[in-house]
Amino acid sequence: MFEVGKIRQDFPFLMKAEQSVPQLVYLDNAATTLKPQSVIDAVVRYYTDSSVNIHRGDYALSYEVSNAYEAVRKTVSKFIQCEPNEVVFTSGASAALNLVAYGYAEKVLKPNDVILMSEAEHASNVLPWFRVAEKTGAKIEYLPLDEQGVLTVEGFKEALHDKVKIVTLAHVSNVLGSVVPIKTITELTHQNGAIIVVDGAQSVPHTKTLVKDWDVDFLAFAGHKLLSPTGIGVLYGKFNLLQQMDPFLLGGGSNARFDKHGHVVLKNPPFKFEAGTPAIEGVLGLDAAIQYIEAIGFESIEKHELELKGYTIDKLKQFKHIKLYNEKAQSGIIAFNVKGIPTQDVAAYLSSLGVMVRAGNHCAKLLSEIIHTQETVRASINFYNTKAEMDIFIDALKDITLEKCIDLIF
Ligand code: ALA
Repeated sequence: MFEVGKIRQDFPFLMKAEQSVPQLVYLDNAATTLKPQSVIDAVVRYYTDSSVNIHRGDYALSYEVSNAYEAVRKTVSKFIQCEPNEVVFTSGASAALNLVAYGYAEKVLKPNDVILMSEAEHASNVLPWFRVAEKTGAKIEYLPLDEQGVLTVEGFKEALHDKVKIVTLAHVSNVLGSVVPIKTITELTHQNGAIIVVDGAQSVPHTKTLVKDWDVDFLAFAGHKLLSPTGIGVLYGKFNLLQQMDPFLLGGGSNARFDKHGHVVLKNPPFKFEAGTPAIEGVLGLDAAIQYIEAIGFESIEKHELELKGYTIDKLKQFKHIKLYNEKAQSGIIAFNVKGIPTQDVAAYLSSLGVMVRAGNHCAKLLSEIIHTQETVRASINFYNTKAEMDIFIDALKDITLEKCIDLIF
């Protein structure tokens, strides 16, 4: 049974936040999530009880930690429905997307091939592709989105043509929370002879990910948006694609042997992509986070987050001074503006009342042409948020005025 009050007790930050005056309300979960005690314990346990390196030491403790680390590949593979050797640990979603861009796309794309993406993409899913396009002579094309940033299947079909070789899309937009029908999009991508790269940074923490069922080719996500430590992420890739892909980092742990003439034999995936000492505590923390999420279950998580979003949207809709950008989006992201008040002033005002949100373009700098505003305020919900917290947020917005924001400064 999903009991949010009970769940909150697992998060030390939330226990302190409830005692603060004013009460702190964390609504910046799309930027990063809070960490439960079990994740913090996993990290502390590693540094307290082991602290040794993996895959290199010929002593019992190193074997033990290596085994624990490798077991997490299995945890992740079950979590997103793939094989353990299709799970590459990276430093985050950005590193994972950069790896696909330089290791795979740069190798296979030819001049005038097309990389198809949307204007709602985060910088981490745009900038590496710009560089790949520059280096290979491939072109970037953009998918049509409606005014709420929604991609339709019809729009996608129209944008496909025989030059499209790579489609790269966020499953859930980090600004508007719009959800892409990933299975259908993947099917159409494959019918077109292209591959699909999915940025799962905002979806994997909130909804069940089924890479095999959806048949996606690559998927990237970050640990820190999924209750885990920072500095850990995952790239899933179909094994045959990982075999074709080159690492962009070389070093210890990724090679089987090399000689002084420069002959290098790399290990098989996923190891050839993991040069250097990895974020061992991050991987162990990710394991604890996945176990925590699975114990709650995505059905309860999604239901709770969408209920809170619907409740909040219904209230905010009644305020004439609030403009909402993504009422339709089926995720816990609320994008809005307060008429006549710059976004950062709104965020600062909310902060003075204890409410934490993000303001600005949210690293998706191309989106302004679609939603006709450079910046938005973003409140992003996670399963540990409550209706009482949303009420604090709503009440804070009820009476906001430019004068009150200015008073904060002077
Ligand atoms: N990508 C994160 C966000 O959207 C940091 O806030």
